[in-house]
Amino acid sequence: MDAAGIDRVLGIETSCDETAAAVVDGGSVIVSSVVSSQIDLHARYGGVVPELAGRAHVELLTPVLAEALALAGSDPTGAGIDAVAVTIGPGLVGSLLVGVAEAKALALSWGVPLIGVNHLEAHLFASLLEQPDLGWPLVVLLVSGGHTLLIEVAEPGRYRLLGGTIDDAAGEAFDKVARFLGLGYPGGPAIDRVADQGDPTAFSFPRSLPGTYDFSFSGLKTSVVNTVRKRPDAETADVAASFRQAVVDVLVTRARRAAADVGAAALCLAGGVAANALLRRRIEEVCAQDGIGAFVPSRALCTDNAAMVAAAGWWRLHHGEGSPMTLGVDPSLSLATTG
Ligand code: KG4
Ligand code: ZN
Repeated sequence: MDAAGIDRVLGIETSCDETAAAVVDGGSVIVSSVVSSQIDLHARYGGVVPELAGRAHVELLTPVLAEALALAGSDPTGAGIDAVAVTIGPGLVGSLLVGVAEAKALALSWGVPLIGVNHLEAHLFASLLEQPDLGWPLVVLLVSGGHTLLIEVAEPGRYRLLGGTIDDAAGEAFDKVARFLGLGYPGGPAIDRVADQGDPTAFSFPRSLPGTYDFSFSGLKTSVVNTVRKRPDAETADVAASFRQAVVDVLVTRARRAAADVGAAALCLAGGVAANALLRRRIEEVCAQDGIGAFVPSRALCTDNAAMVAAAGWWRLHHGEGSPMTLGVDPSLSLATTG
């Protein structure tokens, strides 16, 4: 496929509970980016309900797409759009299918190439959108509701998985502990807010798997539950602050060691948990101490969006790839590592 003429890419993201569409020029300039969050829909269940998410994507995708196209000076005929990129996994199967079906229909009717994108790779490209000249190699800490991964990026497209969670993802741990503390959903922002009022040294929660690149949050979660049961008078703010401190300590210690071990030029955060105020602050502090670059994307690019999908799709198309109209979804897609 000749990718030389591919400049303006429409991205579509429906892997979890955000319905998003964006138009990106040349793989790096965001022309429009529209995100419709389903947080209110899932809040009363304390987590994402897959069946509801799928149905909401069906309802929301058409208006979200129309807005992203209009803001980019295009229209439903796809004027000026050179390709369509869509998330094919990992994610919720019913939600992914909504985006992929729409992307195929648009690519076919507009007569433009289609490219399926790995959601995890898209999160890495979110950083490049804001900081195109990040140095290599990079260590990326990708922390979201579904993933906790430590990845070495030798350059775009060349990844090595250094470690990951053996149980809950970091965001999942925030969500579960917040639910237990009665702080609502999503848990990360709620704990972040309350923790600012608490004492992070009030309780000493466990930091699991020291000395590895892997993560485990289930022991920490159990420890919070046991502590609160034993001490019902404990201030919620102190519990939240001590919990946040434990999670951030573990994330920062691992990421810092990984960066030193691979001789990284910079350490980069990605994924929804990268919106955490303490994590952002601590990463910047340790990188300054170690004399390496720190890159902390804006909150809008940390959480799920379609600009990162368009950017990753543009890059893949310009590396000779393209997807057939038989493109399917893969709910458990992993990041292709190249060693
Ligand atoms: O990347 P994302 O938007 O969706 C997934 O692909 O999972 O991440 C959502 C996750 C949720 O678990 C949410 O609680 C967490 O990111 N999160 C936070 C913060 N903001 C969102 N976790 C900790 N601190 C925050 N400020
Ligand atoms: Zn995500």
